This record gives sequence, C-alpha cells and structure tokens, in this order.
Amino acid sequence: MRLLLLGAEGQLGRHLSPRLSAIGELISSGRAGGDKPCDLASAKQLSTLLNTVQPKVVINAAAWTAVDAAEDQPRAARLLNTELPDQLAGWCQRHDALLVHYSTDYVFDGHPGRAWREDDATAPASVYGRTKLDGELAIRASGARALILRTAWLYSACPGNFLSAILARAAQGESLRVVSDQYGSPTWAGSLAAVTGDLLQRVDGWHDDDPRAMVLHAVDRGQMSWHEFAVMAVQTAAQYGVIEQPVEVAAIDSGQWPQKAKRPSWSVLDLGALETLLGRALATTQQALTACIKQWNRQ
Ligand SMILES: NC(=O)c1ccc[n+]([C@@H]2O[C@H](COP(=O)([O-])OP(=O)(O)OC[C@H]3O[C@@H](n4cnc5c(N)ncnc54)[C@H](OP(=O)(O)O)[C@@H]3O)[C@@H](O)[C@H]2O)c1
Repeated sequence: MRLLLLGAEGQLGRHLSPRLSAIGELISSGRAGGDKPCDLASAKQLSTLLNTVQPKVVINAAAWTAVDAAEDQPRAARLLNTELPDQLAGWCQRHDALLVHYSTDYVFDGHPGRAWREDDATAPASVYGRTKLDGELAIRASGARALILRTAWLYSACPGNFLSAILARAAQGESLRVVSDQYGSPTWAGSLAAVTGDLLQRVDGWHDDDPRAMVLHAVDRGQMSWHEFAVMAVQTAAQYGVIEQPVEVAAIDSGQWPQKAKRPSWSVLDLGALETLLGRALATTQQALTACIKQWNRQ
C-alpha cells in the first residue's frame, strides 16, 4: 500500500513518518523537503504530486495553523484549510483512495455541559475554526472515503507549540503567566500519530455501512485548563531533568492575555467513539506528557 504524507515536516508530520513507514510504502512531502517537496498552496503542484505518486492513502498533516494570523489573512488560511482538503478529497474520490485529514476542537464554541461529541452542533468563533470546519464539510460533500480526526492543543518537543514555548522560558528560570479559563484536551503529537497508525491498520475491517467520511475525536484522555497543563508540564519536565527546577506558574484570565482570535472557553472532546473503534483506552494527559518529556533531549 502506497501512502502519501503531506505536511511531513510539521510537528504531527514528524511523528507520523515512522508510524506510516511501518504500514506501507511511504512517500513524504514537505514544503521544501521530504521525498517529494510541494507547495500545497499551488493546486497545479499538488495535482502533479498526486498523479505522479498515485497513493492509495493520503494523510494530510499540512494546514494553516497560525490561529491569530488567520484573522488578518483569511484567504491564505482558507487556501490551506478548506481548498486543499477539498482538492485532496476530489482526487481521492476519483481514484478510490482513502483520505486521512486532521481538524480541530476550534470548530466548537459554547458549553454542552459535557465533552463535545462528534455530532454536536459546530459554531466556530475564529477564521481558523471556520476554515477548518469548511474543510471538513468539503471532504464530507465529496463522497470520498475519508477519516477526519478532530484533535486539540497539540504539543511536541518541536519548537513552535505551547509546551516547547513554556519549557524554553522555564529553562531560563522565568516564571509563567498562563490562562486558567479555557479548558481543553492537551494532546501529544506522538499519541495522535499512534492513533492514526492504529486506525489505518483497521481500515479493511471497517463495515460497508460506515459513512464514506467518518469524523472522530482524537485527543489524549483528559480535560484541563492551559494553566493546569502548564503546571503539570513544568513539574514533569523538572522530574525528568528537562528543566532544573519547577518555576512559578501564575493563573490569569483570558482578558489578561489578549489574543486576536477568539478561543472557545470549553473545547474538551469526547473520546467514546474512538475508544470503542480501537478497543482500547487512550493515553491520559499525564502518560502522554511523560512519554513526550522522556524523548525531549533526543529530539
Ligand atoms: N497545533 C495544534 O494545537 C492543533 C490543534 C488542533 C488541530 N490541529 C490540526 O492538526 C494538524 C497538524 O497540526 P500541526 O500542529 O502538526 O501543524 P504544524 O506543525 O504547523 O504543521 C503544519 C505543516 O503544514 C505545512 N504547510 C503549511 N503551508 C504549506 C504549503 N503552502 N505548502 C507545503 N506545506 C505547507 C507547514 O510547513 P511550513 O512550516 O513550511 O509552513 C507545516 O510543516 C493540522 O491539520 C492542524 O489544523 C492542530
């Protein structure tokens, strides 16, 4: 089975590569690296890539992920988050290939009084959330066989995410101020890559009556505020020697940390459907964080 990984140099893409290589013949693509570099903003380049590689599975880990910048550059965000998955789904539908795509907890806003389920009503409050939701809708409308994994608060040892940013400051002995009124499901990119691999191993076992496009929530098991996650991260990093000692983590309100894009105050995702499909419990936030921190100095 030939698999094409897009966004191979992103934090999720880097964790996916070894998992996907174990499943089949992997062709990776980054903006300027991988086996077949491609600027995914160019429909023509993407078309050439797909027609040359002829994958049976396309895994799309590429996206516009700069949530605040999307408010000022909605056209660029839409190109990657809506038009790219639309083009991928169209190609997969015509070539009977499977599309694996990632979406976000930011498709939700409000509070249902429990974790969000896959079929709850969406109401994105940001340009990023809107463009990601429109990407989901385009895939579902295409008739392609697709797996849409909604994830949240992704972190890894790669630079450019919440965990690496706070640990870089904590390593300098700086205290932290972190918002305590937004709740979600922090997720290690390594956990999501493992889940993706497990799901792909089961593709043949999916029932004929499964919908062509399946939406699943895929996060680590836990619900907490950014502040609670920062405290857990600092303590775990100190325990494993990534920082010398824990630093102070002050809790603040969102109002004290102004951001251009509105974030949901509650975006905890329900894992029931995914755990039933996989037949196993997902890693807890602490288990996944510990696994990530243990790899820290090796990345
Ligand atoms: N990060 C989160 O907290 C989070 C939360 C929920 C959902 N998600 C979703 O999870 C998925 C993976 O996210 P991630 O955190 O791994 O993102 P990431 O680290 O930002 O990786 C995205 C990748 O897409 C690539 N890309 C962007 N524009 C491109 C273009 N025109 N041509 C080629 N490549 C391009 C980026 O390359 P460059 O670096 O060269 O731009 C980068 O390697 C995305 O679908 C995202 O929406 C992420």
